[in-house]
Parts: sequence; C-alpha cells; structure tokens
Amino acid sequence: MDRIVETKLWNVDKNVEDLESCSQVVDAAHLIREGELVAFPTETVYGLGANAFSDEAVEKIYHAKGRPSDNPLIVHIGDMDQLHEVAREVPEMAYPLIERFWPGPLTLLLPKAEKIATQVTKLDTVGVRMPDHPLALALIRAARVPIAAPSANRSGRPSPTMAEHVRQDLDGRIAAILDGGETGVGVESTVLDLTVSPPMILRPGGITREQLHEVLGDVAIDPAFEAKAEHVPRSPGMKYTHYAPQGELWLVDGSPEQAQKKMEELIREAKANGLSTGVLATDETIGAWRKNGLVDAVLSCGSRQDPSSIAQLLYARLREFDDLGIQYMVGETFPKQGLGMAVMNRLEKAAGGRIISV
Ligand code: TXA
Ligand code: MG
Repeated sequence: MDRIVETKLWNVDKNVEDLESCSQVVDAAHLIREGELVAFPTETVYGLGANAFSDEAVEKIYHAKGRPSDNPLIVHIGDMDQLHEVAREVPEMAYPLIERFWPGPLTLLLPKAEKIATQVTKLDTVGVRMPDHPLALALIRAARVPIAAPSANRSGRPSPTMAEHVRQDLDGRIAAILDGGETGVGVESTVLDLTVSPPMILRPGGITREQLHEVLGDVAIDPAFEAKAEHVPRSPGMKYTHYAPQGELWLVDGSPEQAQKKMEELIREAKANGLSTGVLATDETIGAWRKNGLVDAVLSCGSRQDPSSIAQLLYARLREFDDLGIQYMVGETFPKQGLGMAVMNRLEKAAGGRIISV
C-alpha cells in the first residue's frame, strides 16, 4: 500500500480530567466510528485500533502493518458490558482473573461472539483485554465500540513504546496517532487461553506465570515456548520472526564472565568482517563495555536487578540500534522468571534463534 493519507499526530495529556470529552479523543473516536485507523497508547505498547465490529475497518489494519491475515487481533474493551458483546460466553474462572488483573496486561481467549468482525479472528475464539491506560479507555468509551488493535508497528519490527515509533512505521498509512507519552510495561499483554483446561499461556507478557498461578492454581504453558521445533505455537502470531532489529542480534547465555568473554570474541570477529557493532548491555555491564572501547554502540536495557526496567526499555533499544545503523549486535540473557519470561521470549525472537551457550 502506498502513502495515502496525512497522519494526524495529537498530543494528549493523559492526566487531564474527563479525557473522554477532550477534543482530540472525541475526534479520534469519530475516526474509529467512521472505519479509520487510530494508534493509541496502552500500558504495554501502542496499539493500532479499528472498530472491532467492522470487517472493512479491521481489514485496513492488515494492510497498514503488512500483517499476515491468519494472525488474529486482540479486542480492547472499555467496560464490562462490552465483554458480553465480544464474547459469546464467559467461563466462571474468568471472573477472579478479571477482578485481579483488569484493567491490565492480560488478554483472555474466550468463545467469540457473532458480532465480532471475521477479520478480527477467523478462529472460534477471541482475545479480549481491558487496557490499563486512561487514554486507551477514554478512546474506547468515546468510540462506543470495542477496538481491535495489534501493536502499532510494521509487521516484524519491534513493538512501539512511544508515539514516535508509530510515526516511523506508519506515517501516511493511518488516520491518526494519539500521543500519550511512553508506555509503562513495555512488553505486550500475556495471552491466556481459557477455552482449554487447564488454562494455557499462549504468549508470555505483562502478567507473569507466577501471578496467574496464584489465582488459577494450575496454569499450562504452550509447549512451543520450550522452543521445540515440532510444536506449532497455538497463538498464530508466535510463529513469525518478530520484534527484530534490522541488524543481526546474537544472544550469549552463560556465567557473566564467560558470556562477556564470548561476546567480546564475537564482536572482534564481526569487526574483522567490516560490520558496525553494538552491545545490548545492562546497567551492571555497560561500564565494562565503555571501558574496553570495542563496540560502536553500547546501550543498556536496564538493570538485571529489575526485570521490569528491561521489559520497559527493550523495544526502544532495539530500534535505537536500527537508527544507528548497527549491523551486528550481541546481548545478554535473563532468567526466565517473572517478567523475565516475556523478556526472553521477545529477545529470542529478535535474535531469530541465534543463541550461543557458553
Ligand atoms: O499488549 C498487547 O497485547 C498489545 C496492545 C496493543 O494491547 N497488542 C498486541 O497485539 O500485542 P498483537 O496483535 O501484536 O499480538 C496479539 C497476539 C498475537 O500473537 C496473536 O496471534 C495472538 O495474540 N492472538 C490474538 N487472538 C488470538 C486467538 N483468538 N487465538 C490465538 N492467539 C490469538
Ligand atoms: Mg505485535
């Protein structure tokens, strides 16, 4: 699709009272009702929204993103009444989860209601969540329809955590962007299938496996995460290379000393091959990289002590390497606990499976 429209960029202070009647939100809601695309912030990443009841509107999402059409979208709701417009049936076990985690980064897969546009999901299930962001909620409520929204990036690129990322990817392809500042969580919502027993995590995300375990007791995880090639992931989006920077990223897994040594060796090799190099470091290791002066770009994605800082910064850092034109990167790995599970899932995808254990 060629550039067709002038994309409006609207700044909105998410802390003002009565966001729903602020003029940019009213205009954005109007665009949604007219079947146009509007990008908006959520607590996880920016979403690219369309009226979830309109096939024609939702179809535009796939064109704008260049998204494979077999990859279903998440429907965002603004209140509990909308839940029943979106899902044909809500199992009992959904309620304690909703009580504890909504609004928030948990997407529940439920039996799909008939009104949902076929373009949202061709499966029997629909992913639903109530985002924990005042601007997202105001937009949905003002639009008076549930909003189908994937992450607002071009397919394959890291998800956007700032309006500027959305602009870089989708300027000229969508009607408007609501700029509400940086998103907080930084990785996408957890996708939990409630149509199977026990419920199964199809994509790790902002709500951790440990948190779900506290409410549900038993919670399974899609075996495809253990990276066994014979398992096709149940969440269609999980099978694509995703979140990837333009350069080549290699992850090095091992004790801090051995990993550092291996990373330096890889960087030396890449430099010998004439590539520009970068390291995705942490607050704990950035000093050593600056001192050894080996790489062209050193960026920290946060502190190893605080996985939430890493989740929040990860995508922005991957995009920064692209902006710097870095062709070869190395990065550390993290324990797959708590938010570390979502972080490692995204990192492994960004690296396209290039992981070296030392
Ligand atoms: O945090 C988020 O979830 C963000 C914000 C914008 O809400 N949205 C997001 O959407 O990450 P997207 O489209 O980038 O990822 C949705 C994921 C994909 O992996 C998709 O395959 C999966 O959820 N999914 C959606 N509906 C599904 C369904 N009915 N069955 C299986 N997987 C589904
Ligand atoms: Mg996405």
